[in-house]
Amino acid sequence: MHFDKPAGSNPIDRLKVVGQPVSRIDGPLKTTGTATYAYENRDIGGKPTYGFVLGAAIGKGRISSIDESRARAAPGVLAIVTARNAGKLGVGAFYVDRALAGPGVDHYGQAVAVVVAETFEQARAAASLLDVRYVRAHGAFDLAAAKDIAVTPRAAAFGPPPQSGIGDFAGAFAAAPVTLDETYTTPDQSHAMMEPHASIAVWQGDRLTVWCPIQQLNWGTRDLGLILGIPKENIRLLAPYIGGGFGGKGTVLADTVAAALAARAVGRPVKVALTRPLMFNSTTHRPATIQRIRIGAGRDGKITAIGHESWSGNLRGGRTEAATASTRWLYAGANRMTRLRLAVLDLAEGNAMRAPGEAPGMMTLEIAMDEMAEKLGIDPVEFRILNDTQFAPEEPQRPFSKRQLVECLRVGAERFGWRQRQSKTGAVRDGQWLVGMGAAAAIRGAPIAKSAARVRLDGQGIVTVETDMTDLGTGSYTIIAQTAAEMMGVGLDQVVVRLGDSRLPESPGSGGQWGAASATSGVYAACVKLRETVAQKLGFAAATGIEFADGHVQSGERRVPLKDAAVQGELVAEDEMTYGDLSKQYAHQTFGAHFVELGVHAFTGEIRLRRMLAVCAAGRILNPKLARSQVIGAMVMGAGAALMEELVVDPRAGCFINHDLAAYEVPVHADIPQQDVIFIDEVDDTMSPMKAKGVGELGLCGVAAAIANAVYNATGVRVRDYPITLDKFL
Ligand code: MOS
Repeated sequence: MHFDKPAGSNPIDRLKVVGQPVSRIDGPLKTTGTATYAYENRDIGGKPTYGFVLGAAIGKGRISSIDESRARAAPGVLAIVTARNAGKLGVGAFYVDRALAGPGVDHYGQAVAVVVAETFEQARAAASLLDVRYVRAHGAFDLAAAKDIAVTPRAAAFGPPPQSGIGDFAGAFAAAPVTLDETYTTPDQSHAMMEPHASIAVWQGDRLTVWCPIQQLNWGTRDLGLILGIPKENIRLLAPYIGGGFGGKGTVLADTVAAALAARAVGRPVKVALTRPLMFNSTTHRPATIQRIRIGAGRDGKITAIGHESWSGNLRGGRTEAATASTRWLYAGANRMTRLRLAVLDLAEGNAMRAPGEAPGMMTLEIAMDEMAEKLGIDPVEFRILNDTQFAPEEPQRPFSKRQLVECLRVGAERFGWRQRQSKTGAVRDGQWLVGMGAAAAIRGAPIAKSAARVRLDGQGIVTVETDMTDLGTGSYTIIAQTAAEMMGVGLDQVVVRLGDSRLPESPGSGGQWGAASATSGVYAACVKLRETVAQKLGFAAATGIEFADGHVQSGERRVPLKDAAVQGELVAEDEMTYGDLSKQYAHQTFGAHFVELGVHAFTGEIRLRRMLAVCAAGRILNPKLARSQVIGAMVMGAGAALMEELVVDPRAGCFINHDLAAYEVPVHADIPQQDVIFIDEVDDTMSPMKAKGVGELGLCGVAAAIANAVYNATGVRVRDYPITLDKFL
């Protein structure tokens, strides 16, 4: 099915099942420990062996020798895989990092060896007996020091162009009566998802099966094929349940490659889980940024010039943290400039983490907007409303399909009691606490991608949906079931959903907040086809004008049970949804507003969040309960970004020194206050027949700035370096 003009009314619009706050189908499996994660699979065709990955102990240099003799003699050891015996390894298409070091070492923690033994303990003990000698080289680990030699990155498949602009930014900025020119920094951050990177690999001849928790199975088969030099058709990846990803499991990483190589070496199934310290230093992270923002406005508060430059670092060939992305879309202003610069750093690879580019970009842009509003003497919410635009600022002919930023800000301000905010800083006191309020806008792109599905109807009237889509705990199983139930006119208890197997029809997976809208649209397409098959089978004249409802198919007076169509055998329909150029005609974005109230202890500087509110306008909300969970989870992540999360670089070793969940601090329950989420009604018929967008990344964009702005409102101290730890404003 091809989608190239705004959707008319269709069966989804009945909203009998879609749009209902149904609980997650996989919820009981996860809360009772019966959902099987990659490392837990038992049905793997043999007794497992265990691979333990030894990471490089230097940040940059080469391996001069590895003495394996003591490790080989250790109990239970079956094989030791290193670059010397692994065969030629390629590099995948998404990550640039090499899966195995040797002889060169590209970053601290890069896998040097995989020791395979009968038990995990034996493998770990033997790995400690490997005697690896290194020759250190000088590495670049400090973004601030590398900033001046940063260069223009190449254009990327995802994210904004390296440079963009319209009008005369320099001239307009110089002429503006009110200006801001500030530099902000955001730190390296880790996804720190619960389930570690862990894989089980099994070979049967030249066929490879791997259970591995990755978000995009189609990228996984492609990249593992490129790395191992085998056809992707020979690879089957299985990921029915994933314990969080946040972009850190985009495609295959060291655990999967190590398991595949080890399983080939020993001819048995191999299980490999990365240790938590290796996750921090050998997988990917969100790169730190240095951002300069300049805004010029008239005394009336209208922005006349806006410029945003951002510097980040990565391994050679790696991607830019494209922090300028949202600045291209968010506010009006005739003269504009964005610019990205990329430096080579010898840290682990920087790559996608929830709202890549947009999250750290919004952390700074929305502080700058708060600072600008103060200079202008305008309420910060009103300042944003004043600079709204219904057309893409860099492409004045291109409208937003839907843009309800103003509605989000107004509804949020009303609901939050924004009127009570004192514009004078440090003016509100509650005992020993200084109390402040902050707000920020939210924006995040709304991509959608080709997605396929297969739908079956059996003689019992059970509808089974199959696609290689993944569910990271986000709710894919549930919204896909809701879509099929709505389309086929059956209850949710009549629908079975099978996900996370690369042999199933291809979806774009979970990423870039495209998953929900894309995967359900593929299911919609397959269901349209199944409806046609059913109508034909039951002898209805045409598929149009037929109702599928309450387990029956009806046209005029004729009403037949749906299952009757499959009495002589299961019916199967498969299709994919593809897209024309509506996303070129319209700017597709999701919008929102964040409001925060917090207290800062007057003597200790401790920050305690008191209330958080997000208002979102993000197309049709397929399931408000699950969408809310996505947004409140993202708000928690935003609180972490604002107040605690920071990978600390040790410049001597070239590693992230706080490489566990004790030292890389993330919010816990006690850090998070009352959270509210409001969804503004929105149906975007230019997206797909589902008329939905995503919310998983929108919920993060702007949260940290709302917190930073509330800290300023409470204390009068403006912190421009995240995270806002108390040492920065006492
Ligand atoms: Mo996302 S960072 O594209 O999973």
